[in-house]
Amino acid sequence: MVTSACVRVAVNGYGVIGKRVADAVALQNDMTLVGVADLVTDYRIRVAVERGFPVYAATEEGRAGMEAVGIPVAGTLDELLSQVDVVADCTPKKIGAENRPRYQAAGVKSIWQGGEKHEVAGYSFVAQANYAGALDRDSARVVSCNTTALTRVLHALHRHGWVKRARATLLRRATDPWESHMSGMINTVVPETTVPSHQGPDARTVMPDLDITTMAGAGPYNLSHIHFAMVETTRPVSLDELRRALEGAPRIAFVRASDGLVALNSVIELMRDLNRPRGDMWEVAVWEDALAVDDREVYVTFQVHNESIVVPETVDCIRALTGVERSAERSIARTDESMGIRKTFLSRSSRLAGSAMAGHA
Ligand SMILES: NC(=O)c1ccc[n+]([C@@H]2O[C@H](COP(=O)([O-])OP(=O)(O)OC[C@H]3O[C@@H](n4cnc5c(N)ncnc54)[C@H](O)[C@@H]3O)[C@@H](O)[C@H]2O)c1
Repeated sequence: MVTSACVRVAVNGYGVIGKRVADAVALQNDMTLVGVADLVTDYRIRVAVERGFPVYAATEEGRAGMEAVGIPVAGTLDELLSQVDVVADCTPKKIGAENRPRYQAAGVKSIWQGGEKHEVAGYSFVAQANYAGALDRDSARVVSCNTTALTRVLHALHRHGWVKRARATLLRRATDPWESHMSGMINTVVPETTVPSHQGPDARTVMPDLDITTMAGAGPYNLSHIHFAMVETTRPVSLDELRRALEGAPRIAFVRASDGLVALNSVIELMRDLNRPRGDMWEVAVWEDALAVDDREVYVTFQVHNESIVVPETVDCIRALTGVERSAERSIARTDESMGIRKTFLSRSSRLAGSAMAGHA
């Protein structure tokens, strides 16, 4: 267990996830962001310099390239690792696993992201589902954006013993906004031909007793993912019970088509209007007016902001591995408070709870 009041953190890989993790760590009053490492030399890493984050070079070539364009380099990745308690690896898929021996040699605790396999750490993490099991471990993997969202929603039902069998269809974004000039697709949808898609089995690395199958595809948009879950229940669950179970779980917030939030783009526009950094949505947005039940199943439609949903999980994972906070609830509350994570997005003008459900029972 780390005893210092301030956990010293490194972020390796300052891309879509890493830059957000760095900002979130910098917000925590029980953590210090010692530095970020990468190997690019363009605007992406120069933003870290603008933010005042010490920049380290992950490779010798990276260092030479950074210095050639005037980026102040604080040192090598190994020098960064020698100063920290934990490293959040946010490098691309497969590179993270290659970094494992380096982290072990440095004696730092390590967190990987969902592009790596479960085996990289032997423990897959979603704060609300299995924080306690990560306490004092040497490493853990924060699961992917899709698996995080599935786990949050299904754990909210599973903890009541309601999930007999879950089925979900996932429509993924084609590419991330920053790189959409390089790749993506247009005017089509690409189905995954492996059934189940990997997200269902991945959710079982967090909740082993969950019966789940997922199917997936990708479409020509880059704002986020959407999931449609059909959950066979162990007993008839009323719409009000479903709504309360989701409302009572962390990091799930309702949105309503009746508020004009009719599509992925409108919800992201709301995040921008709320002045969220980068338009991020760390919560799973569940369409309250699309919730439905019958005597065998419940139906849930939700939006997953892939660029940001795993960021609060990574912050909680730092607390769990280092043991500085033993309670999942307290860590989640602390992270949520610091980042502005909410249960409702339009609280000052919301109608009375429950009235939006009229006609859907
Ligand atoms: N983008 C998403 O929607 C998303 C969502 C959840 C999880 N993830 C996972 O997060 C991880 C990171 O994904 P991303 O989307 O942020 O990738 P990214 O490509 O946006 O960022 C990766 C960063 O790592 C840097 N990098 C490359 N090689 C490196 C090395 N050897 N050492 C240090 N830095 C290096 C790159 O220059 C880049 O800045 C992956 O495991 C991915 O599967 C991504």
